[in-house]
Amino acid sequence: MVFALSEIVRPKIYNLEPYRCARDDFKEGVLLDANENASGPIPQDIADSGLHRYPDPHQIEFKSAMAKYRNDTSSFADLPEKLSAENLCLGVGSDESIDAIIRACCVPGKEQILTMPPTYGMYSVCADINDVEVVKCPLITGDNSFQMDTDAVLETLKREPSIKIVFITSPGNPTGAKIKTERIEKLLQNWDAGMVVVDEAYVDFCGESTAPLVTKYPNLCVLQTLSKSFGLAGIRLGMTYASKEFARVLNSMKAPYNISSVTSEYALKAVQNDSIQRMEQNAKSCKKEQQRLLQSLTALDLVDDQYVGGLDANFLLLRINKGDNKLANKLYQKLATESGVVVRYRGSELGCEGCLRITVGTPEENDLLIREFARQLDALKETESD
Ligand SMILES: Cc1ncc(COP(=O)(O)O)c(C=O)c1O
Repeated sequence: MVFALSEIVRPKIYNLEPYRCARDDFKEGVLLDANENASGPIPQDIADSGLHRYPDPHQIEFKSAMAKYRNDTSSFADLPEKLSAENLCLGVGSDESIDAIIRACCVPGKEQILTMPPTYGMYSVCADINDVEVVKCPLITGDNSFQMDTDAVLETLKREPSIKIVFITSPGNPTGAKIKTERIEKLLQNWDAGMVVVDEAYVDFCGESTAPLVTKYPNLCVLQTLSKSFGLAGIRLGMTYASKEFARVLNSMKAPYNISSVTSEYALKAVQNDSIQRMEQNAKSCKKEQQRLLQSLTALDLVDDQYVGGLDANFLLLRINKGDNKLANKLYQKLATESGVVVRYRGSELGCEGCLRITVGTPEENDLLIREFARQLDALKETESD
């Protein structure tokens, strides 16, 4: 079976020519090619910022540095080639990348995507916006492993040939569990009638990325973001790693200046050696705090000590009173309104009954959380027994 991207991507999108501007050819000189404001930025305090110019549409330096980092930290053997800038497309956060991949591959009103609940909500939101149906094939929740049920996914794909994209979140949100690479490879080895998208928003909290595998599997895309481990949610920078052919398609369809100059500048700082080291160090500290939170919170009465989620991301998924949604919701409300601590109620997600998702904060924030969690839970226990 020979994989043909031209049969997966919608023909008009596959045939798009990338937008070209005069500055792709000439960057220096008196620049009168793009109808910018030659007087410079109007706000006085940023008059010297250069922001009157359109940003670079390609970000090759950033992409090369990111590709190098993922190559250097990869242990996959026998890959046909290393990642390079040509394997990347950047988006306004991974959220834009999710939308772009759906638009590229799914004919509205006809084709479908597959998601594995409980999972990140934006896949269905983007599918709805694009008039694309969502087929659900749940993660394995009975044993709290939150692994992909690979055989069930393959069965569903066989039954539903109009599914064009499979979204895998690894580590999962809200599950916190990394999906085993062998399972992802099994899926890739047995299905190539569409794209497999592995969303690795939290990958740096648990180790190795599957991004280098895009050079081996032409129907694999991997999403990453600077919003989590790099602490740059405010700049909105997401990355899609894909085969060079699919990356070319994604780069052709994106708005040419989707990444602002300010975002580019900070993104480039994030991939310098000292920043990468800080990111890795920070992820390690986060893991220690995660353990401390886990131990303190699961020791409390009414918090199930059988930990529910995985520990592969930067949060915990805790189950209150054996899946008591009413109590979990009350606790969530009280923490926010009386203690000033905002966590996320996830009790209505499949397999997450009675669950709260709690992001690991700074040590001081975690101290406060532990104290207030215990206090509010005690108070609720008393009102319940009245
Ligand atoms: C699994 C997952 N993917 C993507 C995102 C969004 O990332 P970005 O900030 O890059 O849009 C999130 C944010 O919470 C997430 O949990």
